[in-house]
Amino acid sequence: MRKKILVTGGAGFIGGNFVHYMVNKYPQYDIYNLDLLTYAGDLTKHCGIESKQNYQFIKADIADRKAIIPLFEEEDFDYVIHFAAESHVDRSITDPEIFVRTNILGTQVLLDAAKQIGVTKFIHVSTDEVYGELDFDPNTFFTEDTPLQPNSPYSASKASSDLLVRSYHETFGLPVNITRCSNNYGPYHFPEKLIPLTISRALNDQKIPVYGDGKNIRDWLHVIDHCAAIDLVMHEGGNGEVYNVGGHNERTNLEVVKAIINTLGKSEELIEFVEDRLGHDKRYAIDPTKLEKLGWKPTYNFESGIAQTIQWYLENKEWWEQIITGEYQHYFEKQYSL
Ligand code: NAD
Ligand code: DAU
Repeated sequence: MRKKILVTGGAGFIGGNFVHYMVNKYPQYDIYNLDLLTYAGDLTKHCGIESKQNYQFIKADIADRKAIIPLFEEEDFDYVIHFAAESHVDRSITDPEIFVRTNILGTQVLLDAAKQIGVTKFIHVSTDEVYGELDFDPNTFFTEDTPLQPNSPYSASKASSDLLVRSYHETFGLPVNITRCSNNYGPYHFPEKLIPLTISRALNDQKIPVYGDGKNIRDWLHVIDHCAAIDLVMHEGGNGEVYNVGGHNERTNLEVVKAIINTLGKSEELIEFVEDRLGHDKRYAIDPTKLEKLGWKPTYNFESGIAQTIQWYLENKEWWEQIITGEYQHYFEKQYSL
């Protein structure tokens, strides 16, 4: 039977990859990509699928109740896969307000709309950052039972939205899942984040800013493995359940930056240690056992994933160059003039 799937934030990094994945994998589903096209959204990534019968784009703001509620009533979506968000921690430190509006208020508007039409399921794409930070003991991991202790305005806004999703399940019986994934990387990653920033700056022989001593640890997952996890949770996830997503690929930031520089044959002298991020979380590490029991297994390890990603950036220079030299050039110049 045909199903209507609303993907919010489908012009961004992970949502964009997910839209591709779903349009190609499920010709029997109609995929609606709803996005406001903020600085982080672009549709050029969808030029290969925009003529497909099962793909449609809707430009809208998730926090605009007057637009969202009638849209849901008209389209009667079966599933909502909610990616749309302000996603960059550094921006949440300089301008928290938009994070509250988009990530909290926007999620609440979508929940109201989903409740009103009675969707089959609402999948909320959250993050491991809601758990706060771990220390450097390699035997400690975030599980689904780890208390929420967000440290940045970004993660606080995501944790707030997680709690709203939970409350709509408990209070109104809305069928939901929450996924909490570790750091993603892969094609179409916006070049303000560590991995694409390092690749693009190394290719242009520019200095690469490493915050603090570079020893903070992130747990990296290729975006396609995240997409497959969401697909599985959408179809098989227990109603009301939370699933952590991660592939046990912990690396210090310095290890990540050096791996990229060395693969590109550039000099490590490009590395520049800069002032630390305020409230910089020390370490993230996911225990994915619950999701593995549902049948998920990542296809990439860090070595194969980063090699594929670097190759993609080499072959798609046009895409990231139009971003760093375009409308938002001032942002890249301001933040990274070292
Ligand atoms: P992104 O910043 O690349 O994309 C966000 C998208 O949301 C953009 O296309 C933007 O235009 C859109 N958007 C922003 N505000 C909107 C609004 N008001 N209405 C409609 N659309 C709006 O983000 P991403 O890295 O792809 O992350 C997607 C989701 O996954 C986020 O919810 C994030 O919290 C979560 N997440 C990200 C990571 C990661 O490593 N990037 C890891 C775990 C979870
Ligand atoms: O863990 C999941 C989260 O991962 C997502 O919820 C966020 O949306 C996503 O942006 C990402 O957050 P991080 O803050 O971990 O990602 P970022 O790429 O900004 O930074 C990764 C690490 O690298 C972090 O420890 C800060 C450091 N860093 C980052 C930048 C941009 C640097 O050292 N230099 C930099 O220039």
